[in-house]
Amino acid sequence: MVLPALVASLALASGAAWAQSARTGAGEGDLAVFKKACSGCHKWHGGGGGGYGGEALSLRKTQLDKEQVAEVVRCGRPGTGMPYHLRGAYDSVKCYDSLKADMGSSMPPETAVFLRPAEIDAVATYVTTQLKGKGDPTIEECTAFFGATSRACDIYRKKEGSDAPAVSH
Ligand code: HEC
Repeated sequence: MVLPALVASLALASGAAWAQSARTGAGEGDLAVFKKACSGCHKWHGGGGGGYGGEALSLRKTQLDKEQVAEVVRCGRPGTGMPYHLRGAYDSVKCYDSLKADMGSSMPPETAVFLRPAEIDAVATYVTTQLKGKGDPTIEECTAFFGATSRACDIYRKKEGSDAPAVSH
């Protein structure tokens, strides 16, 4: 049964996390969690690429559904640089039916930012509704992430040939 688990995890969410999800809109997941825990490797647009932790896969091109994304976030991906984000994973909570001792050298790294179950649910929703299946990143997505005035989005402005004045210095 999915529903009781969902209700339980929502009940566990702190007031702050709840307010945060509410701000991005029902069913869209949580950009704030993605920002703090994922964008360092998968980039702001989720397209991934090289960097710390190796080659992070594109979440825009992922084939995984929400529950599969949540599992990868909870448990990491064995044998790769994708870290586990659930406190107690492979220890008090089995992952892929295994504990640390079973994993040997394929034990995935521990996250720098542990997430609560409600945050994992919210970020899996964010990945599957806001990133998965989207094509190239757009200026709208960029300003939603960085804010309307950020120069980080200038390259998308030019590419889309918008009327916004080009920033030349
Ligand atoms: C330390 C870098 C790092 C961080 C932080 C990180 N990832 Fe990853 N992630 C990776 C790497 C590397 C892979 C590629 C694993 C592989 O080769 O299968 C990956 C793979 C994935 C996949 C599998 C995609 C697929 O189609 O198979 C998902 C889903 C994913 N990450 C989601 C997330 C989410 C959501 C977060 C934030 C909660 C996150 N990752 C944080 C490095 C990272």
